[in-house]
Amino acid sequence: MSWLWPLIGYLAGSCPTGYLVVKLMRGEDIRNYGSGNIGATNVGRVMGRRWAITVALIDMLKGGAVVALAMAMGLRDHGLLAMTGLFGILGHNFPVWLRFKGGKGVATSFGVMFFYNWFCPWPALIGGALWYLVMKVTRYVSLASLVGLYACALAMGLFRAPSPYVAASFALALLSTVRHKDNIRRLLAGTENRVGQKRV
Ligand code: G3P
Repeated sequence: MSWLWPLIGYLAGSCPTGYLVVKLMRGEDIRNYGSGNIGATNVGRVMGRRWAITVALIDMLKGGAVVALAMAMGLRDHGLLAMTGLFGILGHNFPVWLRFKGGKGVATSFGVMFFYNWFCPWPALIGGALWYLVMKVTRYVSLASLVGLYACALAMGLFRAPSPYVAASFALALLSTVRHKDNIRRLLAGTENRVGQKRV
């Protein structure tokens, strides 16, 4: 029955936290605001920093917790655990509840990468620190997210995490890059939204 874990990962990941928060608190559809994304950054534009942090934390946990739960229940197959995490991000990015139009998977990927290798937290900490640094210096969350995710994936390799986790982490960074295609276009054109700049 261990093949059920990726399915559970998908279902947990597909819970659209940002969408639900804005719907429940404001009665609005977040997809009509800001970048149109359902992620924490866009929630911050609509609802403020406190809600952005809340959504980011829940999004991190919803992916990572299923991987942690599977490990706690005795699943030891690195390939299947890697797949469980990947399916969590697929759930966030392509949720069945929102007709498969979801987010960019940044917070969920960080959560999954952290729990893949929870006994060696350095890759996630390095990725998180770089995310913070790039965000502070440039105020571009999208750029910070991509730098942080690739740094985390690279550090997974450098710290010799099991190869399925390293491969899955690079796959997550790559998937998130594709999901950021509009942000990348705006970054290149110099029109990307910066943190603190109201454009809702
Ligand atoms: O977490 C997504 C972030 O990197 C970009 O979000 O709303 O600016 O597209 P957004």
